[in-house]
Amino acid sequence: MKVLLLGSGGREHALAWKIAQSSILDELFIAPGNAGTKKHGKNVDLAPTDFEGIKEFVIAQLIDMVIVGPEEPLVNGIYDYFQADDQLRKVAIIGPSKFGAQLEGSKDFAKAFMSRHAIPTAKYGTFTAETITQGLAFLSSMKGPYVLKADGLAAGKGVLILSDLDEAKSELKSMLIDEKFGAASSKVVIEQFLDGIELSVFVLTDGESFKLLPEAKDYKRIGEGDTGLNTGGMGAISPVPFADASFMDKVHNRIIVPTIKGLKSEKITYKGFVFFGLISVKGDPYVIEYNCRMGDPETEVVIPRLKSDILDLFEGVASNTLSERDIQFIDKSAATVMMVSGGYPGDYEKGKSIFGLNSIVDSIVFHAGTSADGPSVLTAGGRVLAVTSYGKNLEVALEKSYDSIAKITYDGAYYRKDIGQDVL
Ligand code: AMP
Ligand code: GLY
Repeated sequence: MKVLLLGSGGREHALAWKIAQSSILDELFIAPGNAGTKKHGKNVDLAPTDFEGIKEFVIAQLIDMVIVGPEEPLVNGIYDYFQADDQLRKVAIIGPSKFGAQLEGSKDFAKAFMSRHAIPTAKYGTFTAETITQGLAFLSSMKGPYVLKADGLAAGKGVLILSDLDEAKSELKSMLIDEKFGAASSKVVIEQFLDGIELSVFVLTDGESFKLLPEAKDYKRIGEGDTGLNTGGMGAISPVPFADASFMDKVHNRIIVPTIKGLKSEKITYKGFVFFGLISVKGDPYVIEYNCRMGDPETEVVIPRLKSDILDLFEGVASNTLSERDIQFIDKSAATVMMVSGGYPGDYEKGKSIFGLNSIVDSIVFHAGTSADGPSVLTAGGRVLAVTSYGKNLEVALEKSYDSIAKITYDGAYYRKDIGQDVL
């Protein structure tokens, strides 16, 4: 099989690493990829949102399957673009239709979907500039903290949590009237605040059946103790100690099954990953958000724990035979610690030489934001490297990642030293 993988982060490096191990792979291309993905296939200089460029490449290279890493091409409708084209229709796309991708692309769509299918989530209301008066009254009727969410994609910045009512009201105005997040905040979802501990659960679905992947927990804030600004994610662990069998049963019965059934009953074409961003409130799971893709850095711990051939599973997705495929996992824990650029998530410099990568033997170093300069590897993003290790338990896996990190250097390198500590 000839495969094109779209994206350039740690998630895509982890996927490329796994796809390259498949017995049914003939050739792997990654667009645009990074200095790490290059070891597993050929990088192609194409943006994941350049549908015309992707079309030309897919036709010229006789690509059989396109695996979509990030959300943007999905929300922009890459699945539908392929379906509408006579030459592309036979090419398998791993990712939902544009309509299905609204589970991530529109918070209001996701909340309404959950209401229709009685899936546990925070109580909410959706407001626009026209209904701002009701929105302000809705806020007044609630107890703080106040959760305001821009409806559309806002590069992970569209959620505000405020303790003060007046501040919440003024932010609501700025989102709806001053378009604080552009068109993404022309609608705002106001939610009840849920107090609990978060985790990420993933399934792969062909629209009929699904396979559950290992759960993970990511660490979103830049500072230790989960303080400071939000980032793309500073590390992840899998399994999650508090996600025991009884909790995962609730997730299965109350959340996953109704979601997959709901997609099917509403005839929403969905062939790809569903990422359930969950919060456990006193042992009961609620959906904080859906994403229509894998998580990053969760992929860097989830995919290493998958034993089965990932392309066999993707083939099952494409041909609606996922239920006939076998899925097995590696019975080890995995942890990843993200090394970032100094200054991230604010301004940071790129192009710093990275040293020590070749000395790492006990970890897998997934590249998140790197570029190749001849044989050297340079930093090329805020999140630079995801250092993943296996262990007989999380403590061992984390220790190995921190030992490996001690051998990697670049100007301004920063990482959190407390990944996993809250749940161990
Ligand atoms: P989202 O983009 O919807 O995942 O929101 C970003 C982050 O805001 C989540 O990971 C949570 O930490 C937090 N959050 C979102 N919604 C709520 C809520 N209803 N209650 C508490 N925290 C929330
Ligand atoms: N780690 C959270 C995300 O990928 O959205």
